[in-house]
Amino acid sequence: MIELPLPLTTGRLRLRHLVPGDLAAMHAMESSEDVTRWLYFEPRTEEEARAALDRRIARARDAPETGVTFAVEESATGALVGHVSLTVEPHRQGEIGFIFHPDHQGRGYATEAGRAVLGIAFGAYGLHRVFGRLEARNAASARVLEKLGMRREAHLVENEWVKGEWQSELVYALLAREWRSGV
Ligand SMILES: CC(C)(COP(=O)(O)OP(=O)(O)OC[C@H]1O[C@@H](n2cnc3c(N)ncnc32)[C@H](O)[C@@H]1OP(=O)(O)O)[C@@H](O)C(=O)NCCC(=O)NCCS
Repeated sequence: MIELPLPLTTGRLRLRHLVPGDLAAMHAMESSEDVTRWLYFEPRTEEEARAALDRRIARARDAPETGVTFAVEESATGALVGHVSLTVEPHRQGEIGFIFHPDHQGRGYATEAGRAVLGIAFGAYGLHRVFGRLEARNAASARVLEKLGMRREAHLVENEWVKGEWQSELVYALLAREWRSGV
């Protein structure tokens, strides 16, 4: 069983496991049109947010080696401001993804939490490569991955039919040795 270094404190944030009491904050994020604009899902109802939260909690409890969604709290207030997910794929690859509440965006929180999750991905998980995928118009997401030192490796043009239109995908990635060399 993988040993995760949680809770993990960064300069302004605390990363921990999700708990059922996070439902209201998770629903607030996942019901927002702004948040879901470039995601695969539409704004979630409370029941949908509860089901998604339950799945994440169950995965962290029963199969953490397949990945975990990390709850991100603001240390100063204890508020759940976002979450970062890590999904383990074959070949020691992992996918990172972020969702932050609009009230807490633009303060560098996704970058700060993402850096901590990369540390866990290359540390506790022993991954060789971490990648992020995003819709090509999701400029904030691309910027976060660039600030994390990830390399733009692909721009797939109109490779997916999502929400009634052809969407394009950017792929960013970072290798363990690049992370260790402080890229
Ligand atoms: C993507 C997301 C996680 C970023 O969270 P955040 O905490 O605001 O990120 P940070 O503050 O660390 O960095 C955001 C960067 O994007 C930039 N940015 C924000 N909106 C932008 C836009 N429309 N165009 C260009 N850059 C933008 C910010 O200026 C900042 O860069 P800077 O530090 O160089 O100024 C957040 O916007 C979000 O939750 N979006 C909705 C869900 C989503 O799309 N997730 C990604 C799925 S792939």
